[in-house]
Amino acid sequence: MGLLKHLLDIKSLTRDELATLLINARSFIEVSTREIKKVPALRGKTVINLFLEPSTRTRTSFEIAGKRLSADVINISEGSSSVVKGETLLDTARTLQSMKPDILVLRHKESGSARFLAELLGTTAVVNAGDGMHEHPTQALLDCLTLWERFAGENDSADDLTPISKRTIAIVGDVRHSRVARSSIYAQLLLGNTVRLVGPPTLVPAEFADPRFLQFDSPAGEAAVGKLSVHHSLAEGLEGADVVMCLRMQLERQSDHFIPSLTEYSRFFCVGERLLAKHCPDCVVLHPGPMNRGTEISSEVADGPRSLIANQVTHGVAVRMAVLFALCSGERHVDRSQEESHDRN
Ligand code: NCD
Repeated sequence: MGLLKHLLDIKSLTRDELATLLINARSFIEVSTREIKKVPALRGKTVINLFLEPSTRTRTSFEIAGKRLSADVINISEGSSSVVKGETLLDTARTLQSMKPDILVLRHKESGSARFLAELLGTTAVVNAGDGMHEHPTQALLDCLTLWERFAGENDSADDLTPISKRTIAIVGDVRHSRVARSSIYAQLLLGNTVRLVGPPTLVPAEFADPRFLQFDSPAGEAAVGKLSVHHSLAEGLEGADVVMCLRMQLERQSDHFIPSLTEYSRFFCVGERLLAKHCPDCVVLHPGPMNRGTEISSEVADGPRSLIANQVTHGVAVRMAVLFALCSGERHVDRSQEESHDRN
């Protein structure tokens, strides 16, 4: 049994580590259905949420998760931090570390910021709550948990991940700028699913289907072979899909003009009910939020029976409880040989 020191990405997780986090998260769902939604697991532990980029769902969800585990939770946003006075991220983090938190949850606009802090802070566990265009591991985990809850049969055992393997997942939209897409690609491939990336060539370049491009020098790398494809036609990408994951257009990260206009983009790539009914009538739909209705998803789909968007938010709490718990209890169900090969990567 090894130790989960930080959660910085999905890319460096093994399938067993991913499975363990999901199995633990599944067992935490029940806590939020109790009348008294609290367990003493993290009593005496301190979690600091340092969110230096806007967030509604993720920040609230980490706060609720920490509180339901009885941790002391402190929230710091950009406007209320000394970052506005010019302090560097590292100085802010070192100041916070001096107060001995157990976990620092970081959202930041720069890719790699979570790993940077994890390496320099040393003792404090760091959770990546979204770093630039890089990764958003807890979002990918909550998507997996949502699908598991949806696809699991009543008689399946509680740790049987078969219902969320061998599925076809279409990820539609601004893949190029999306940290949600990157984490989801790794997670879905690790589970044994087929992943289709769908969108215009400017937002979904053909090289994204090449395992070397996404730097699959990781456990997900082997899983990627033959399982990852790029589609520039929405109808083609949706054909027979079990899951359609819509992405928000990341306008704040686009330094160039990647689409002629949002109106034109939505004409070709907005996920609407008519196309779903025709090409993947049994599919379910995910969106990480916040949504741009009418741009990447129609209201009919977002509010309709295939939508699992509200379930995603609910399961986000259970996933974050599992992550905080794993970091504090030091649980990581891997054997030493896996861990050593993982360290070498
Ligand atoms: C995502 C994010 O911030 O990356 N949102 C979220 O965490 N729920 C997706 C997005 O902003 O598009």
